[in-house]
Amino acid sequence: MKNRCKNIYITTPIYYVNDIAHIGHAYTTIIADMLTRYSKIVGYDTFFLTGTDEHGLKIAQSAQQKNKTAQEYSDIVSAKFKQLWDDFDISYDKFIRTTDKEHKIGAQKAFMVMFKNGDIYKGNYEGNYCVGCETFFTNSQLIDGEGCPDCERPTNIVKEESYFFRLSKYQDKLLELYENNPEFILPKAKAKEIINFVKSGLNDLSISRTSFSWGVALPSEMNESQHVMYVWLDALMNYLTAIGYGNDEKNIKYWPANTHIVGKDILKFHSIFWPAFLMSLDMPLPKHICAHGWWTKDGEKMSKSKGNVVNPQDIANKYGLDELRYFLLREVPFGQDGDFSKRALVNRINSDLANDLGNLLNRVQGMSGKYFNYKLDSKNVIKYHEQEIKIAHDIIANLENYIFSMQINRYLEDIWTIITLANKSIAQYEPWDLMKNGDTTKAMAVVALVANLVAKIALLIDCVMPHKTKQISKSLGIKIDAKTYESIITDKLLIDKFHISKIEQLFPKIDETFDIQSKIEKNIPAIKTTNTMQEQNLVSVDDFFNSIIRVGQIVFVDDIKKSDKLYRLLIDIGENKPRQIVAGIKTYYKKEELLDTQVCLVSNLKPVKLMGILSEGMILASKDESGLSLIRPEKQKKPGTKIS
Ligand code: MSP
Repeated sequence: MKNRCKNIYITTPIYYVNDIAHIGHAYTTIIADMLTRYSKIVGYDTFFLTGTDEHGLKIAQSAQQKNKTAQEYSDIVSAKFKQLWDDFDISYDKFIRTTDKEHKIGAQKAFMVMFKNGDIYKGNYEGNYCVGCETFFTNSQLIDGEGCPDCERPTNIVKEESYFFRLSKYQDKLLELYENNPEFILPKAKAKEIINFVKSGLNDLSISRTSFSWGVALPSEMNESQHVMYVWLDALMNYLTAIGYGNDEKNIKYWPANTHIVGKDILKFHSIFWPAFLMSLDMPLPKHICAHGWWTKDGEKMSKSKGNVVNPQDIANKYGLDELRYFLLREVPFGQDGDFSKRALVNRINSDLANDLGNLLNRVQGMSGKYFNYKLDSKNVIKYHEQEIKIAHDIIANLENYIFSMQINRYLEDIWTIITLANKSIAQYEPWDLMKNGDTTKAMAVVALVANLVAKIALLIDCVMPHKTKQISKSLGIKIDAKTYESIITDKLLIDKFHISKIEQLFPKIDETFDIQSKIEKNIPAIKTTNTMQEQNLVSVDDFFNSIIRVGQIVFVDDIKKSDKLYRLLIDIGENKPRQIVAGIKTYYKKEELLDTQVCLVSNLKPVKLMGILSEGMILASKDESGLSLIRPEKQKKPGTKIS
């Protein structure tokens, strides 16, 4: 692949096996999966690591509560994580467990290297420990002299012999690292907190425990059978051991990692301890530590006791996996906290996915079928639509910057501007009109333009919605792979010819009022009508769009001589002069109820004369036994805005 030889290594945190996965875990993993899929389709040699963190007091205690050995318990929960990621089609290259033999060997090797470098010494630890966070705290860090500053639960006083890592020695080097690499911590705003913490002074770190045994033993050369490694030392080493450090080093070429994705709660471990350990090991440092925010549920922190933990599998089953992926990646700028609500999810699905993207593909299928027997040729696209193609390519050229600076929501926002461009092009060039006028060449160019834009969009969103893009690929008859990416994204080419197939609706709309509706319906004894709208004269979307309806502003109202029913209206629809409309609404509206208000106007009707006056359109209204109501836009719109 041209210019694309670099290695990319992407990791998630390894998940504690004291609990099953929730939406926060799924979020971290989906971000990493998206970056991986992006890197792979772009042509980078990419390695994606995830896995489980299985040692430490917290896991030992959880196992005990379940009457299992720590190993049995870890086996069960780790398998559940793996199963979930497999069900979610997460494209990991390795799933590491910290109880893997190779991991333990690698972690022990690292310990020995740091020890030999003089960075590890033996001492006594006396201080406070939070089991939930598996973290040591100084007295001054505690809340009210006891509470963990991170999770607020009570800490325990620990007094034991311990090995220490000379973290204090790395204080200046760490500050230099942050200074010289402003993108080491992303988003950049998060770096400040870390820099201040390091500046306030680093204590050496206790890295072994003697009061329990569920951990990686210290290397045998140390002759310390009482000590196990501190779980964070063991855990962080996974990023190296997974690619063979201390073992079969065939994948070590992926080091240094490009991107460690972590939650904001574990940024400190990754941006302070981890680079310090690596400096001690004399290993290159990762490029980016990217810290995302936390998800709350309906505004509240998720917790088992509140019973509001969102299960990602349930959401994916109900709303669709790709829909969930899109929502998580689009809804919240990376680094900020987000609130998970079904309403927000449904809104995204209905507007961005069903209305914008799904509808666009529908229109390509509809128009290509109706006008061109599902076969499209791109030979005149550049001739008539060079401008649109250029706009799309300019947007695309900027997208990679968003990816590795973790502005994933902006990546998606910009892609959506291409979707809007495509939808607008259809409205602007009106292929149905071109067909009616016999201009099939131009009509073909518009539909092929849109098909090409959809093809490009599909390649760009494959990393976000890899299952939906398979459907798009089927519909457009194109392959979604690195080769096509290179040709139509990198090299900016067009697909010469399409053979379109009709597929089932890409994103069926979700009836967001369904739940409320069913509640209401339960309270209604009987629906008082047996009517069903058995429409006989079904029209296609394209037929519907043959009529152009626009928002208009009534700028003048006048009576018509000898008519009790008709008004003469002048309506501004953004043209150089207002349209004159004759409307039979006089018995329902006074002039002042009409003047300066907005209505909806069919603007491409053939003009007709009524009572000798030319009427250049028709305003929309609805009439039942209670009278007539004009159909008006809910909010003020620019005169001339199209209605669809
Ligand atoms: N085992 C450590 C990581 C070791 S990495 C060498 C750990 N595990 S964890 O299971 O507790 O958390 C894993 C990830 O899930 C963290 O990045 C954390 O931020 C993330 N989340 C946990 N709850 C979350 C939310 N409510 N929202 C978003 N992510 C959150 O920490």
